[in-house]
Amino acid sequence: MRVLVTGGAGFIGSHLVEALVGKKVEVAVLDNLQSGSRNNLFDGVAFFECDICDRDAVFQAVREFQPDVVTHHAAQSSVVESVRDCSADAQTNVLGTINLLEAAVAANVSRFLFASTGGAIYGDIPSGSRAGIELTPQPISPYGIGKLAAETYVRYFQQWVGLPVNILRYANVYGPRQSSHAEAGVVAIFLAKIRKGEPLTIYARKHPGDEGCIRDYVHVSDVVQANIGAIEGRISAPVLNVATGLGTSTYQLARHLTQLFGKETELVFADKREGDVEYSVLDGDGFQQLFGTAVTLREGLRNTLLF
Ligand SMILES: NC(=O)c1ccc[n+]([C@@H]2O[C@H](COP(=O)([O-])OP(=O)(O)OC[C@H]3O[C@@H](n4cnc5c(N)ncnc54)[C@H](O)[C@@H]3O)[C@@H](O)[C@H]2O)c1
Repeated sequence: MRVLVTGGAGFIGSHLVEALVGKKVEVAVLDNLQSGSRNNLFDGVAFFECDICDRDAVFQAVREFQPDVVTHHAAQSSVVESVRDCSADAQTNVLGTINLLEAAVAANVSRFLFASTGGAIYGDIPSGSRAGIELTPQPISPYGIGKLAAETYVRYFQQWVGLPVNILRYANVYGPRQSSHAEAGVVAIFLAKIRKGEPLTIYARKHPGDEGCIRDYVHVSDVVQANIGAIEGRISAPVLNVATGLGTSTYQLARHLTQLFGKETELVFADKREGDVEYSVLDGDGFQQLFGTAVTLREGLRNTLLF
C-alpha cells in the first residue's frame, strides 16, 4: 500500500504519516512548508516540496509516487487568514484540491480522502444541538465556504468520474506538535502562553466577558484513526464527522489547562472575532460506532502537555 499525504509536514498530516510509517505503509509527503515544518518530516518518507496550486508539479509528484490512496490535508488552515485574504484561501483550498483530484484520477488512485471541517462548514447551530452530516452546511467564513466548495468538487469526482472518496469533517483538532503560531490552534496557543506566563485571551461568543465560543475538541489520535479506517476501506459513508459530540467553552478550556499546569494565569476577555462560529458541536456518533469512544478532553490535554 502506498499513501500520499498532502500537508504531511503540518500538524495533523505529520501524525498521520507517523502512524502509517508505524504500520509499514509506504508513505510520501507533498507540502510547500507554508505552515508546516521540515522538523515534522520523517526519515525514509519521500518528500515532494510542492505547491498544490502548481498543477504541473502536482501531476508530476502523483505520477512519480503512484499512490494507492491520496489523503489530502494540505490547506490554508486559518479562519482569520481566510477573512484577511479570501482569494488566496480559495486558490489553495478550492483550486489546489481540484489539481489533486485531477492528478489522482490521471494516476488511477483507488481512494481519495479529503480533510474537511465540521467546525467551520456547518456554521452557527442552535445552542445545545449537535451538527449531523444531514444538516445543510451554512459556513460563515471564507475558509468554511472554500472547504464546502472543495467538498462539492470531491463529491462530483465521486459521482461523475468514479473516484472512491471519503470526506472527513473534523471538529477542532488538538494534540502534540500543533503550531502555536497558527490562528486556529487555541489549545497550542494557550499552552505556549501559560508556559511563558502570559495572559490567555477569551474572544467573546457574543459580548466581552462571556465564556467565549463553544467548540468540540477532538484529539489528533482520533483523527488519525479515522484516516486509517478510511485508507483501509472501513468507512462506507462518503461523509463522516470526526468529533466527540461534546461542547467546551474557551473559558472552560482555559480553566482545564491552568489546572493541569497547576498555575494561575490571567484571563483577558476580548471582543468577538469576525468569522468565528459561536457554537459548534458535531454529532460524533458515526465516528464512535466505528472507532469507539473518542479521547476525553482531560485525557487528551494531559497527553498534549507531555510533549
Ligand atoms: N486543526 C484543525 O482543528 C482542523 C479542523 C478541521 C479541518 N482541518 C483540516 O485538516 C488539514 C490539516 O490541518 P492542520 O491543522 O494540520 O494544519 P497545518 O497548517 O498544520 O497543516 C497544513 C499543511 O498544508 C501545507 N500547505 C499549505 N498550503 C499549501 C500549498 N499551497 N501547497 C502545499 N502544501 C500546503 C502547510 O505547509 C502545512 O504543512 C487542513 O486541510 C485543515 O483545513 C484542521
